[in-house]
Amino acid sequence: MSDVVGTLYGDAPDVAAGPTPVIRAVDLAKRYKLGKENFVDALRSAAFEVAEGEMVAIVGPSGSGKSTAMHLVGCLDSPDSGEVWLNGRRVDGLRGRALTRVRAHEIGFIFQGFNLIPTMNATENVAQAAEYAGLSRSAAAMRAGELLDLVGLADRAKHLPSELSGGQQQRVAIARSLVNSPKIVLGDEPTGDLDTVTSDEIVRMMRKINTDMHTTFVLVTHNPEVAAACDRTISMRDGVVVDQGYGA
Ligand SMILES: Nc1ncnc2c1ncn2[C@@H]1O[C@H](COP(=O)(O)OP(=O)(O)OP(=O)(O)O)[C@@H](O)[C@H]1O
Ligand SMILES: [Mg+2]
Repeated sequence: MSDVVGTLYGDAPDVAAGPTPVIRAVDLAKRYKLGKENFVDALRSAAFEVAEGEMVAIVGPSGSGKSTAMHLVGCLDSPDSGEVWLNGRRVDGLRGRALTRVRAHEIGFIFQGFNLIPTMNATENVAQAAEYAGLSRSAAAMRAGELLDLVGLADRAKHLPSELSGGQQQRVAIARSLVNSPKIVLGDEPTGDLDTVTSDEIVRMMRKINTDMHTTFVLVTHNPEVAAACDRTISMRDGVVVDQGYGA
């Protein structure tokens, strides 16, 4: 337990013997209010763990709370109750600069729609994220070049998103998610807009990064083939985790 650090919330909770989970979601609850009377319980005591170096899928019907869980784990939103631990540190109550630092340095995001800036070419899209993360302009450009090379797009560096295929755009987005060498990459339907062949290619690329760089991947997906390519499948239903996929 020597690698588990205490925090402003007190000591880390006991974790079963073995490596510290890189993600620990404890009894997460999130209610969205819709006007005065109506609400949706998007998460109701949802709990799961992800170990360092795992590549995990999160599956479940539409509306079961997958994206909400990703947003809470990625510190894009706060739970009403429950805890989020990243790398042995509790992060759900963080504010201000501490929160910005966790978002910028510990987590990478990949989204379904790629979210690239249309007026910037591939290099500029990646370099901008690297600059945002604190690199100088020249260091950011160099980092962008390395990462585009890593995802096999060195020859498309000057192309605008509109001049790239969907798979190529998603590879730029993967490169962008890695600017800070995050330990964790969260993907919300990262292959949702891609055809089967391209989706397969993107999953293999993420697996290669997972293996080579020991990056932990958590991928929300509706695609059974993507889930099958992962180490384990966490299943959600009606705001709870019904199966963590550890087997019987
Ligand atoms: N900002 C919001 N305001 C109100 N309700 C919301 C909001 N975001 C999500 N919800 C509701 O919370 C529930 C869980 O939504 P969530 O987006 O987490 O589901 P999901 O599992 O990601 O679904 P999908 O597979 O369709 O993406 C849904 O019933 C949804 O309508
Ligand atoms: Mg969703």
